[in-house]
Amino acid sequence: MDPIERINQLREQIRYHENRYYVLNDPEISDEEFDRLLHELERLEAEHPDLVTPDSPTQRVGGTPVSGFPTVEHMEPMLSLDNAYSEAELRAFDERVRRGAGLGDTPVRYVAELKIDGLSIALTYEDGLLVRGATRGDGVRGEDVTANVRTIRTIPLRLTNGPSGRIEIRGEVFLPRAAFERINKEREEAGEPLFANPRNCAAGTMRNLDPALVAKRGLRAFTYQLITNGGDAPLSHCQTLETLRRWGLPVEPHYAACNGIDEVIAFCNAWAEKRRGLEFDTDGVVVKVDDLTLRRRLGTTAKFPRWATAFKFPAQQAHTKLLKIEVNVGRTGANTPYAVLEPVFLAGSTISLATLHNAEDIARKDLREGDTVVIEKAGDVIPRVVAPVLSLRPPDSKPWVMPTTCAACGSTL
Ligand code: IVH
Repeated sequence: MDPIERINQLREQIRYHENRYYVLNDPEISDEEFDRLLHELERLEAEHPDLVTPDSPTQRVGGTPVSGFPTVEHMEPMLSLDNAYSEAELRAFDERVRRGAGLGDTPVRYVAELKIDGLSIALTYEDGLLVRGATRGDGVRGEDVTANVRTIRTIPLRLTNGPSGRIEIRGEVFLPRAAFERINKEREEAGEPLFANPRNCAAGTMRNLDPALVAKRGLRAFTYQLITNGGDAPLSHCQTLETLRRWGLPVEPHYAACNGIDEVIAFCNAWAEKRRGLEFDTDGVVVKVDDLTLRRRLGTTAKFPRWATAFKFPAQQAHTKLLKIEVNVGRTGANTPYAVLEPVFLAGSTISLATLHNAEDIARKDLREGDTVVIEKAGDVIPRVVAPVLSLRPPDSKPWVMPTTCAACGSTL
């Protein structure tokens, strides 16, 4: 395909999926599929720099500010993390760090932390008092959600023996699985649309304009980053985490200091399974250089720090048969298709139903009744249908058509 055509096609797809993820809180594809699209676009733009435009999805730090809250500027940009999907990609990250640091074969000391599947938050404390909480937004400016942040009971309103002056502390707001299940049960009983997973529920909650409702949802937070203007700054990431904990901030306790990438890989492999026993969702491991002086030497690219990467746990997939596509009618009258599957065991539970977003999504993936399909659980509690296995498609199958009348009342849709 002509590179111009492919670039335009990729930009259109990426914008569509960004909107689904950041604005609608209802992603259709996995982070991995999204990254592949973005990386292909980045590669094509690197090969054809004359085709780069300022509005290309590659030209932003990340995210889209949403309306409803005043926006505020972060003390320094909130960068995102580059991803690693395999042991080989982790080793390549380690190579880049060692080359950048001029360390040769000397192992680097890393800190491996669980990657909390929530939304990032920036907390400003002045003379030890919480004065502001902001979402990441576009990385430079976020939404001021202070009133909502103040309802999160694990975030202290006053630090214990905190420093004087202004500091910013960053971390992740998330919803424990039990709270997510309780909220969805209540919504089901009220005939309201369900949240796809705890992350979407946490993101939707943080953007709610009613702090009283936010307080009831049971959000929690973990912190992992400290930004100061001088003062007695810690020298290592481990020291930062200990300092945050001393000040009374929540720190996820399972982090580990690792001497070299082999120990990091062992940590990632162990948690790919152990994570199921946690009370919150984690979608990977964040690997960070421990020495903060070395971090400054390595610096950042326009979007990512060179001193950290996010290892993503492989999505849990299985094959099964798509028996039927049915339509559910919510209390609000919305008709939403869903998949009835031949029951299959995947990542701790038997799956017989999966969400299908809408008729367009089914048509885009060309899902047909009778197909063998790939289903996936990627940190999500509700599984999704990824794609049909075309080689196993029955010869007499027909594209699925959305009914034109409402499944409940028979009126025209
Ligand atoms: S460090 C400059 N540590 O993952 C790097 N991020 O995919 C700052 N996240 O934007 C991020 N758990 O919202 C870091 N232990 C952890 C994390 C974590 C979750 C989120 C964070 C970040 C995103 C990147």
